[in-house]
Order: sequence, then structure tokens, then C-alpha cells
Amino acid sequence: MKTKVTFSKYALLAVIPALMLAGCGKQPVKGKADATSAGADSLKAIADANVNLPFDIKEGKRLFSRYCGVCHGESGDGTGQYYGSSLQPTPANFTDKAFMKTMTDEALTRSITGGSASVGKSNMCPPWGKTFESDEIECLVAYIKTFSK
Ligand code: HEC
Repeated sequence: MKTKVTFSKYALLAVIPALMLAGCGKQPVKGKADATSAGADSLKAIADANVNLPFDIKEGKRLFSRYCGVCHGESGDGTGQYYGSSLQPTPANFTDKAFMKTMTDEALTRSITGGSASVGKSNMCPPWGKTFESDEIECLVAYIKTFSK
């Protein structure tokens, strides 16, 4: 008899957390698992898409997403999520082939390094020459040019 009481006490102790998990934990845990596997899938997709890119494009892409995409847009079309549509003038559209044809590597490098004001335009594109090494700016130039290809 004593053994049985002890057993059911333990059984009850074991059941309570199980119920708590089933009741409250199940949905969030499932959701979390889904989100994690979706995250892993999209990370893998990004890794797959990047694996064959030359280093300068890969590095340019990384820097661009971090520093330029807010204004120029992740796809380079000048409609960045945060500032793209509210800036005057609007951020340069790197998918515009006609515009990009007018921009040599040297001109792009100069604009990026000194900011748009340094090439006689507005002061809306900040100077990046103190943020990046010149080889990083080369990577940005290489990457920006991929939008109009
Ligand atoms: C705060 C928003 C903003 C950010 C951040 C920004 N830009 Fe710009 N960018 C602009 C705007 C606005 C223009 C258009 C300026 C003009 O035409 O007067 C522009 C223009 C340019 C141009 C064309 C310049 C020219 O001579 O016509 C280049 C190249 C450029 N940006 C590169 C970059 C790069 C590379 C980064 C990231 C390292 C970056 N921008 C980050 C807003 C931004």
C-alpha cells in the first residue's frame, strides 16, 4: 500500500509537467521548430545562391545589404525599405542600365568614397571613405554593377 501511494505521487509529479507541456508548450514549440527549419532552409538557400559568387561580389553584397540597402533597396532599384521613397532626390537606381552606363568604375568609386555631394550632387548619399577600405569600396562597385546586368 505504501509503495502504491508513493508510486502514484511520483506518477502525478510526472504527469503535471507533461500536461503543462501539452497544454501551453505545444503550439509555441511547434511554431518555433517550424520557424527554425524555415530559417535554416532560407539560410541554406542563401548559402547555395552565394557559393559560386566571386569573392568581391560576395563581399560587396554583404556590405551593400548592411549599409546601402536601407536607401538603395536590396535589389538596388533605389526603393529601400526605410528611406527609399522619402528621400529627395531618390537614391540612385542601380538597375537603370542607361544611368549605370554613364557611371564608370572610377566615377562610382569617387561617389561612394566622397559621397554624392563630392561629385556635385545632393548631400543625400553619405561619404563612405572613412567607413571602408578602398578594397571594400571596390567590392561595393563590383556588386552595384551586377544590378544592371
Ligand atoms: C541615407 C540613404 C543612403 C544610403 C545609406 C546610401 N545611399 Fe547612395 N545614394 C543616396 C541618394 C539619395 C543618392 C542620390 C544622390 C543624388 O543624386 O544627389 C545616392 C546615390 C548613390 C550613387 C550614385 C552617385 C552619383 O554619382 O550619381 C552611388 C554610386 C551610391 N549612392 C552608392 C551607395 C553605396 C555603395 C552605399 C552604401 C555603402 C550607399 N550609396 C548608401 C542615398 C543613400
